Parts: sequence; C-alpha cells; structure tokens
Amino acid sequence: MASGGKLRGVMSIDRRVALKALAAAGLVRWPAAFAQAPADPDLEIRLTAARDRVPIWSGPATDVLRFRAEVLRGRRDAVRPSGSYLGPVLDLRRGERVRIAFVNRTGESSIVHWHGMIVPERADGHPRVAIASGAEFVYDFEVRNPAGTYLYHPHPHGRTGAQVYAGLAGLIVVREPGEAALGLPSAADELALVLQDRRVGSGNQLVFRRTMMDDMTGVLGDRVLVNGVPDARFGVARRPYRLRIANVSNARIYKLAWSDERPLHVIATDSGLLSRAEGVQVRPYVVLAPFERIELLEDFGARSGGDEVALISRSFNNGMMGGMMGRGGAMSNRMRGMMGGGSMMGGMMGGGQGEELLIARFSIARGERQPGAALQLAEPQPPARASGHELYTRVSFSHMRGTLNGRVFDHHDMTAVADDERLPVGAATLWTFDNDGPGMMAMPHPIHIHGVRFSVVERTASAAPADLREGLIDVGYKDTFLIFPGERVRAWVAPTEPGLFMYHCHNLEHEDGGMMRNCRFV
Ligand code: C2O
Ligand code: CU
Ligand code: CU
Repeated sequence: MASGGKLRGVMSIDRRVALKALAAAGLVRWPAAFAQAPADPDLEIRLTAARDRVPIWSGPATDVLRFRAEVLRGRRDAVRPSGSYLGPVLDLRRGERVRIAFVNRTGESSIVHWHGMIVPERADGHPRVAIASGAEFVYDFEVRNPAGTYLYHPHPHGRTGAQVYAGLAGLIVVREPGEAALGLPSAADELALVLQDRRVGSGNQLVFRRTMMDDMTGVLGDRVLVNGVPDARFGVARRPYRLRIANVSNARIYKLAWSDERPLHVIATDSGLLSRAEGVQVRPYVVLAPFERIELLEDFGARSGGDEVALISRSFNNGMMGGMMGRGGAMSNRMRGMMGGGSMMGGMMGGGQGEELLIARFSIARGERQPGAALQLAEPQPPARASGHELYTRVSFSHMRGTLNGRVFDHHDMTAVADDERLPVGAATLWTFDNDGPGMMAMPHPIHIHGVRFSVVERTASAAPADLREGLIDVGYKDTFLIFPGERVRAWVAPTEPGLFMYHCHNLEHEDGGMMRNCRFV
C-alpha cells in the first residue's frame, strides 16, 4: 500500500496482463490453500452465458445475454429453466457439495457471483478473476446457507450493470429438510418472482445507459418484467402460497403492496426465514431495494374465487435530489405497467423512481378454501460473540460518483484493502454506515456485503421518507440493506470465511462507477 503510485501501477498492469492471459486459457491458478476442490461433488452443473434472441414483447425478438444450465451429475431437478431470458433457477439443498463450471460465451469478460451465498473466497466471483469470453471458471462450494432465496449474477468490474440489464441473472433457492416441520406451503405451492424494469426502444431492443442521469440514478425502466415476462399473470388456488420475491433491477426500488390493500406477511428476508422471536412481519407494504429478497406467506384463500388481485409498486416520494428529476406530477399516479407501449414518453423516458407500477396479476381459482398448516417458525440462532471491533463507512455521492469513505474501487489493484476494511473471522464486528445528506446529490443506496449474513441492529435519524418507513424490514439476516440520505445504519457482521470479499452499493450503475471496495476477513 505504501509503495509509490508509479511502481504500483506498473506492477498491476503486468499482473493484469498475466491474469488475462491465464484466464483466457482457463488457467487461473490459486495458492495451494485454495486448491480444496472436493473430488466428488454431489451436484455438477455447467452454466453458460451467451448471446441469444428471445421473444419478450409482441413483435420482433429482443437481443439478450442469457444463462443456460445443465446438470452434468446429480439431481436433474437442480436446474429449472425460465420461460424467458432469465437464467434458470438453481434449486440447491443445504449441505450439498456443488461444482459449477461457468462457461463465458458473452463476447466480453465476465464472472459469476453467488449473491448472498457463504462460499470460500475462491468461489465468490470477485471481479479480479473475471475470465475472457471463451474461457471457463470452475466453482466448488458447499451449500452453507439456510433455506432461503438467493441470486446469481455477473460481477466483472465496470460491466455488471450492462450484463445484468442484458439478461444475465438468476435465482438460487436453498432448501433444507427442517422446512417441512415449519408448516410452510409445499414446494408445489411456491411462486418465485424476479422483478426487473426495462426500457424498450425501436425493434423491441433494450435501451441501457444513455445519459448522465442514468449514471446518477441508475438505469430505470418503465416496463416491469417478472421472471423475464411482461404483464405477468399467475393462476392460484384458494390456499396459502410461499412467494419468493427478488428485486433484480439495476436501480429500481419497489414499494410492494397488494392492490386490494391486504397487508403482506413477510416470513423471510435476504438470508433465510425469520425466527420465532422475530415473528411474521405484517406490513401494509414492503420496500425492496435492488438485490434484496423477501418471502411472503400469502393466503389466497382469504379472497373470493374468481377474484383478481395485483401485486403493485405504490408511488412514493423518492427523496432523491430533492425530486429534481423525480416523478412528473401528471404521470405519478399512472399504472405505467398497464400503459404498455402507449406510455406518454414512448417508453423511452423510463418510469422515474417512485412511480406507481403494476407488477403481476393473480387470478384466484373458484372452489373451496383450503387452510394451511399453522406456521411454526424456528427458534432463533445464538448470535456470534462480539469481536470488540468496529468499522465506520461514510456513504456519499458527489461529482457523479458514489464513494465509500471517500474511496472508489481500485481497478488497477483489485486486491487493495484499507485498514478500515478488515474484519475478524468468527466474531461479530459492529459496522456503521452513514449516508450523507440531505442535499442535491443525496440518494438512497442499497449496500451489500459479500460472503456474510448480517443483522441490522440500528437505523437512526429516521431519515427514511415517511411514506417508506413502515416497509423497511430490518429483522432477520440480511446481505443487502437500503440506506437513505441522512440515515445511519449499523449492522453486526460476523464473517465465517477468511479471504478477500467486497462491499458495495448494489445500484449497478453506482457499483460500476466505482462505489465498491474490497474487504478482508482475517
Ligand atoms: Cu450481488 Cu457484489 O453483488
Ligand atoms: Cu454478493
Ligand atoms: Cu448507490
């Protein structure tokens, strides 16, 4: 760290060139400590990312990047293809040893990160191990996470937003036998909803980053897609369902609610089911920031057969930049999703942050109501002991880029870690995040930490906009949290895997702009 900038620059270029050459040949070598690939995985999957053309809207097909997967060994049902550009659901079991060979055929450098999964450093998909198109990267890990809803997506430096927007992302579902005793709906009564927003231009092509505003707010679209499908509809029976909802939008924050104003029953957050101590969270709406997940227990039997109810995102005051680019008053209350191609701005403007959106419709079948079992959430786990260590990170956005303690990602030395970015393994560190503001450039940031599940213990200043506050779920284990301008959020972070990981803003345009840092678990 203390070496002169010049020398460091020269060395890092060498290293980059060397790594690229090795990566191109699929030959990245790891120190012996990391060469712990189990000889005999339970499950072996080949995951390929490639260009494709997919019919999404009526008319011409859309150019996308798409993950496809095949099971090479083990349970065939571990891979569930999507009906659109979205990657297949990887359905994993806790304790399984998994090997995934990622084959990059995107035409550019890429790497896959298992968002929320506690995996060894080598399997985390850090941007420094991105591979060239044509190469392959093999991940080995054991599924340590508890039952829950996780994600995978590319993580090459500077290109994550573009690749996710073009279609590269998918859901990971982790199951464990213990779930059967909790009174949850069975796997047959589960629905997964991956929420994304897109802008569509001529010929039904996706329109990515175009303006300074896109870099500032992140790319927002006026079309909502669920599992890669517009105008999503689900037929449901009159019984309880488990809904797994993931926000895989580059920048959009959803204020999820039912169109008939029934409350939402939250049973899981990012990193698994809530405990008995936390209990089911009953909320009028839930705020879901990019790459956060929740699971809902929704009893469609409480409604009449033949009814239709919609999952919507209610309008809110985004509190961003004093509403400077916010919601044009006349448009703010429109159901943009319903307006389809006829939207006033021709679909090119993108629904602003905080616009009302239609997400999906649910048609309730006629017939007798079938009650579910009584829900028995598990006992809470004992918390990790405190390390006595504390970290502090100031989150800000100015001069068109986000920073963490005034720093951005060092793409010349992708292993750089500052002293205040080191956490002990096996004990809990209290990590405080302060978001600047309010002010012109103040905005909410979804902050994510790799390789850990943490608990948010404090959210002070109550600077969250009044119309969003009730929907913030700070209970349970998280891997991503939203922090509003002027807010302070504190979390207990207890890493279990040593090595180099990252923390960053998960607004993908902020992340690609450098609002990302390494952290080291030691
Ligand atoms: Cu979801 Cu660093 O990523
Ligand atoms: Cu992650
Ligand atoms: Cu941000």
